Order: sequence, then structure tokens, then C-alpha cells
Amino acid sequence: MCGIIGCSGRSDETLDVLLSGLEGLEYRGYDSAGVALSNGTLSVCKREGEIHRLQQAVDGDLGGPVGIGHTRWSTHGPPSDANAHPHTDCSGGVAVVHNGIVENYADLRAELTDRGHEFDSDTDTEVVPHLVEEELADGATFEEAFRAAVTRLEGSYALAAVAEDSAAILATRHDSPLVVGVGDDAAYLASDVPAFLDYTDRVVYLEDDEFARLETGSWTVTDADGGLIDKSVSRVEWDAEETAKSGYDHYMLKEIHEQPRALRKCLRGRVDERTGSVAVEALEGLNPGSVQFVACGTSYHAALFGAQTLREAGVPAQAFLASEYATSPAPVTDDTLVVGITQSGETADTLSALREAQHRGVETLAMTNVVGSTAARECDRTLTIRAGPEIGVAATKTFSSQVVACNLLSAAVAERGDAREVVEALRDLPGQVQKILDSSRAERVAEEYVDSEAYFFVGRGHHHPVALEGALKLKEISYEHAEGFPAGELKHGPLALVTAETPVFAVATGSGEKATKTVGNVKEVEARDAPVVAVTDGASDVGRYADVVLEIPETHARVAPVLANVQLQLVAYYIAKKLGRSIDKPRNLAKSVTVE
Ligand code: F6R
Repeated sequence: MCGIIGCSGRSDETLDVLLSGLEGLEYRGYDSAGVALSNGTLSVCKREGEIHRLQQAVDGDLGGPVGIGHTRWSTHGPPSDANAHPHTDCSGGVAVVHNGIVENYADLRAELTDRGHEFDSDTDTEVVPHLVEEELADGATFEEAFRAAVTRLEGSYALAAVAEDSAAILATRHDSPLVVGVGDDAAYLASDVPAFLDYTDRVVYLEDDEFARLETGSWTVTDADGGLIDKSVSRVEWDAEETAKSGYDHYMLKEIHEQPRALRKCLRGRVDERTGSVAVEALEGLNPGSVQFVACGTSYHAALFGAQTLREAGVPAQAFLASEYATSPAPVTDDTLVVGITQSGETADTLSALREAQHRGVETLAMTNVVGSTAARECDRTLTIRAGPEIGVAATKTFSSQVVACNLLSAAVAERGDAREVVEALRDLPGQVQKILDSSRAERVAEEYVDSEAYFFVGRGHHHPVALEGALKLKEISYEHAEGFPAGELKHGPLALVTAETPVFAVATGSGEKATKTVGNVKEVEARDAPVVAVTDGASDVGRYADVVLEIPETHARVAPVLANVQLQLVAYYIAKKLGRSIDKPRNLAKSVTVE
């Protein structure tokens, strides 16, 4: 999704800050990038394609103490130099970058065109600098003009603007994140903290409809009427090292390897191993009659796990795809808790579903990785998963931390259950993940099956979400066809697709009924000559029917999904690597999906 960076600092540094900030935003996914700097005159440079094309195009004339930059992920109009941000008015005196969608842009554009404005792009954004231009022509100051233009907009936006005669960056947000970075002698602006983390870890989160003004290293925040708001400055716990590749070929591999540490952080200070009790401030006093999870993609898979775990603990619970829930919400009662699982805390579908829940008056909880994200700020409670920044578009460590956080939630609200055993297993989990990372045969499995026609993943119970996640990870980074199914569903249709050219990854742990039945399903695919890769702790005899076994250590049934999933993350990574794919930035995908 689109990303915004801004800097008000020293003339000889601002351009570098913008360009490195754009690199820090690359992980969100983009197809073009651009910058605008003001130095009394306004200069703009933008290019379709990767940021290095922009870096090559930037010439010595471009400079100034204030500037804005943008990575674009196309919504209105294809990727092109013209559609890249920043966009300017007719005179080239005002430049604007925008995340989100201006829903009434067609009407505004028609209106502006009638009044003689000429447009260079297909974007919805371009109406904004022209609206500002009209106000300036009527004698407004830059800030008055910007505020007046914003009142005309409908939809979602994070906006930043610079103008030729102004030493300020003006910015505002509505349903799209924007954060101010506070430096010693510079002020920064970004849609996402990693963009300026090299320069400062002190941040001010903007709320909807607040306005920020960044000028010569200083900043102010005002409300829609111009009244000064006393904002608090927070420190983000992430550091720049966490957002560097640190010698790994890809962020995804680095993040897979960061899981032991991420899991320790998620658990720290939250569980009492002696009593098996869970003490999480965000969950204190929580006693829901029922729980509804809303989430998308990988987070939805964690939600499926969470709902199952809660049901096992005696609490009625369901998982919903947020995009569906937002328009077809399930019935709630006064004691329903709606939990939004969202790594970024900015996924538009999930925010919409949570807002729908709030609209109906029920309590909401955000389970997120990003302190200060929109979900965190809007929900009644926030359970942070503490995985640290995740840069690779494919979610890895955040899924593991979400599964652990779901276990914490379930232990905290359970009426009955086995919290003590789960807590003990969670204590051993980081070490067990490390063991898998040190010894996995996933790369050899990838070598063996890389040229297959398609890949299927099956699992039952807690391993159903793992099967779905294994397939999602593989398809998104390898572009190969992969599907996950509940193991028992294979014979109801998908089995027709199974051949000797379609490996089946079967996840089975323990020796109970679920594992035994999964073994039966494995025999069904084996009889169709499909290669079988078993992901197992060896407690059942699934390995006997498998061509290859990816081993995981024995653990509690509610913790095993994390371990099994680590093996599948590695398989996906190595298949994609062998195919030479763009692993950290898969085609068409974005890290933070801020449109519905
Ligand atoms: C897949 C992936 C996506 C996200 C989904 C929700 O690897 O990353 O499926 O899980 O877009 O994102 P969040 O968790 O930020 O709400």
C-alpha cells in the first residue's frame, strides 16, 4: 500500500532522509515513487518502478529544507510516472502526497475542470493540489488553503503537502495512519514508523481530523478549527537494527529466524509458570459471554485458531473474515467481545469490522503488533503481540505471536481448561522453534518438489489454520498454486485434483483421534500416488505413509501449530527462493492493506 514520508530539517539532509525513508516504506508494496522539495521554489521528481529508478533520476537541483515523498500502490490509474505522487496544481506551486481514496474525486475533478484546471494523471489525489491552488488564488495562506481543501474531501486520507512559498509541511489524516517523528533539529512525518526510525524513535500519533504543521525542525498539532492540541510524545520500542536485513538474504528469512526472540517477548511478564495463570493488563476483568474474531489473511488463520481454542475453553467463539463481517455482521449480545487480529493495526477491512462492532455497542479488543496503530487506538482494549517490526510482506513471526497471544487470551477468559499445561508448553516454545530452525530439512523438501503442478496442505482441528496458512504463504511468495483444506474435506471434492504431481503436506501431531483420522486421509492421497510430506512430532504413524517427514518437537496440542507452521514457512521460503521470486515484495501484494 502507499507510503508517506516527510522531513523538515536541514537543506543538505532532507532529500537523503526522504529517499532513505522511501526505502523504509518499500515493504508496504508499491509500484512507483516520488519526492517534492521546497526551497522557495518547488521541485518534484517521480518515477514508475523501484526506488533506485527515482534515486537515479534525482538531480542536483532538487533540494530544500522541507520535502515530502511517497510510494504508490495503484488504485486509480496504472503505474506510471504521471500517476506517481507527489501531484501538483496547474502552476506547479503546490505538491501533495496521499494515502487512501478520495471517494468524491470524480465530482471534484469535473468541477475543477469546468473552472479551467488541467489534470496530468488518472489519480483521485490530483484534485487536492488544485483545490489548494484555488484557495491560494483567493488570498488564503497555505495553511488556510490546505484546511479548506480538506473540507471538500470525502473518503479516507493521509495527506501531506508542501508549497513553493512556504517552509512548512502540512498534513492531516482521516481513516489512514500518519505519525510525526520528533528529532533534535528535524521533524519527520510518515505513514509508518520504520520510514524514519533511523533518525528518531520519538513519535506523535495523529488522530483522525487533526492537522500537523512541521517547520524548521519544529511541529505543532491542531484540531479541525485550528485549536492547538497538547499531544504527548511516545517512544517506540523498535530500533533501526530490527528493520535491517542483518546479513539475511531476505527479511522473510530474518523474521522466520527472529521467532524465538519474538515469542519470548510476547510472553515476558505475562504468565506465571508456577500457577499457570496469565496476567495481562489488557485482559484484566474480561469475562465475555461470547467472542467474535475479525481478521484478514494470515491474521484470519490465527483467528480461526483463537476461536477454536476459546470454544475448547467453554467460551462460544467464531472467526469471521473482516471484509465479510463489515457488511454482514453476526448477531451480538451485550457481553460479546469482538477481537480484531491485525498485525499492522491498519487493515481497512478489519478496522471496518471493528467499527461495525463498536457501532453496535459491544466491547472490542485489538490484538496487534503496532502500538499506536489505528486499531490499538480505537478499540477498548489492546493486546500487543510484541513481535517487533515485520518488513517482509508475508507475515511469519507475527502469525506465531498471534497464536501465542490467542492462547493467552483463552487462558485469561477460560471457564475451564488446561492453562497450566499450555503455559508450561509456551515456556518451552521459543527453544523448540530454535531447534527447528537449526535442523529443518525444509530446504531439501523445497528442492525435491519445486517443480510440482500444485501443492496441497491438510490438517485437522488446530492444524486446519496451519494448513491454510502453509498454503497462503507458499502461494503469495512463490506464485504457485497452493490450497489448504481441513484434512477430512479432501474427499469431498479437492481429492479430484490430487495426482502424482501434487505434493500433499499433512500436519498431524499427537496420537489422538485427530491424528489418526488425518493418517486415514493421508492414505487416501497416497493411493492416488501423491507425494506426501508429513509435518509431525512422530506420535502418530503418519510418517509411515509419508515420502518425507518434517519433524517437530512434541508439545501441547495448542502450541504445536506454531511449530508445524515454522516448517511450512521454511518450505514456502525455499521454494520461492529456488524459483527466483521477489520474496519480500511479492507481486501485487502490500504489507498494509488500507483500502477495503
Ligand atoms: C499474508 C499477509 C496478509 C495479512 C493480511 C492482514 O502473509 O501478510 O494476509 O495477514 O493482509 O494484515 P494485518 O494482520 O496487518 O491486518
